[in-house]
Amino acid sequence: MFRESEIEGINPYSRKIEYIIDNNVIGYIKYSHIYERMELDNLFVEEEYRNRGVGNKLMCYFISLAIEKRVVNITLEVRISNEIARNLYKKYGFREVALRKFYYGDEDGILMEKQVM
Ligand SMILES: CC(C)(COP(=O)(O)OP(=O)(O)OC[C@H]1O[C@@H](n2cnc3c(N)ncnc32)[C@H](O)[C@@H]1OP(=O)(O)O)[C@@H](O)C(=O)NCCC(=O)NCCS
Repeated sequence: MFRESEIEGINPYSRKIEYIIDNNVIGYIKYSHIYERMELDNLFVEEEYRNRGVGNKLMCYFISLAIEKRVVNITLEVRISNEIARNLYKKYGFREVALRKFYYGDEDGILMEKQVM
């Protein structure tokens, strides 16, 4: 099952979607919903549950939510070396729009965007 909630802290726009099996959080998406846009801040699946479609389920849920909330676009940054995540995002219609040099200090980041509306 999915559970949606706010993330307490200084950013009032931060929210998360958790994927839960038997009361355990197996994976999550953390994101910011800032008026007409969303920023995907983190996507994570517990290692022993990877390659079983949990990432797919979370992304499908997240994109449906973005459509329901009528956001214009979703953006995210990903490490250039993270081919698994880049594949996943491309599969869901994210385009690579900019290279952010040394975004992660030791590594470049790629800015990706998906038009929703
Ligand atoms: C990225 C991550 C969330 C994927 O979760 P997952 O549950 O294993 O993903 P799924 O099994 O649902 O696969 C979803 C898609 O990811 C891509 N993918 C998954 N495993 C892959 C692999 N070993 N090689 C290449 N692509 C892969 C594919 O596009 C796949 O789509 P498909 O099912 O049609 O092949 C997971 O690997 C993870 O938590 N990684 C560490 C954290 C991270 O890097 N997060 C992204 C930060 S921006």
